Amino acid sequence: MFLQLYPLLNLLLVPQLVLGVSYTQSDSITGTGFLNSFSYQAIADPTHGRVNYVNAATAASQNLTYASGNHFVLRADYHSVLNPSGPGRNSVRIQSNKQYETSVMIFNILHMPQGCGTWPAVWTVGGDWPNNGEIDILEGVNDQGTNQATLHTSPGCTMPASRTEKGNALLNDCNTLINSNSGCGVKFVDTSSYGPNFNNKQGGWYALERKNTGISVWFWSRNAGTVPADVNAGGTTVNTDNWGEPTATFPSTSCDIAEKFGPHNIVINLTFCGDWAGSVYGSSGCPSSCEDFVNNNPSAFEDAYFDFESLKIYT
Ligand SMILES: *[C@@H]1O[C@H](CO)[C@@H](O)[C@H](O)[C@H]1NC(C)=O
Ligand SMILES: *[C@@H]1O[C@H](CO)[C@@H](O)[C@H](O)[C@H]1NC(C)=O
Repeated sequence: MFLQLYPLLNLLLVPQLVLGVSYTQSDSITGTGFLNSFSYQAIADPTHGRVNYVNAATAASQNLTYASGNHFVLRADYHSVLNPSGPGRNSVRIQSNKQYETSVMIFNILHMPQGCGTWPAVWTVGGDWPNNGEIDILEGVNDQGTNQATLHTSPGCTMPASRTEKGNALLNDCNTLINSNSGCGVKFVDTSSYGPNFNNKQGGWYALERKNTGISVWFWSRNAGTVPADVNAGGTTVNTDNWGEPTATFPSTSCDIAEKFGPHNIVINLTFCGDWAGSVYGSSGCPSSCEDFVNNNPSAFEDAYFDFESLKIYT
């Protein structure tokens, strides 16, 4: 009203509003919108997990994906005992139909998969891996510790050892060909960023900002006092300048982000055991062996589900 009455004042204010890094909403995905915006990938797990990724029809008939109102649920089967020599536990891997480059993505997540043997991930990746890069936003295994955000690239992308972020940098060379493809990761400090602790607090928001001068990830727990108003509102614009210190940041200082990262699809997947969850299972405090546990204890996977309230994308 005020601005309508004073159009000249409006013109004067606009330049100030665009000074920061302001983004405009391009996608607002909730409930059944996830089914239209993503496709099922019934593929063999490239990370050798004890999983059987199902197609859309099987996911629907077994209620492994479920969409209603402000909920999109993606889960593993928690009813079947598995034949040790047969396929792995039914689960779901979905990929966004659209690709994104410089953008902001905000995942509002109410619940994430938990349980021994679980390896959930929310990430983005380009074709011709690793030449278009990979950005792991939310990932972990066996309910262990905090979240880890990681970049994986072709050779020639490293991160400065010292940078301004809340998390703790692990390895600083993003090259997939060395360190057994550990990538350049940042371990979060906030214990509510992953697993049972995340779920006990009704989850929260994961945000990714990708720009050519750097890639950053933020996490805010549901009831944190620091959730930015524009993130909480999920409205038509966001300004990352107001979000404070990122939880993880990957500057372009010694990595040509524009060259190492191409158009990316968003992938959401839930596997079991495999290259990461399986290899560290023995030291996780979980019972039995990873594959035996996954085969024989379906009820242990009742909480192995994502529940997304929304995914908002800004460009
Ligand atoms: C699941 O996600 C992780 C991302 O961190 C990826 O490395 C892995 O290949 C994915 N596994 C499957 C089977 O999709
Ligand atoms: C399917 O899953 C949703 C979410 O977990 C649940 O609310 C619903 O009751 C389930 N439907 C059936 C038929 O089991």
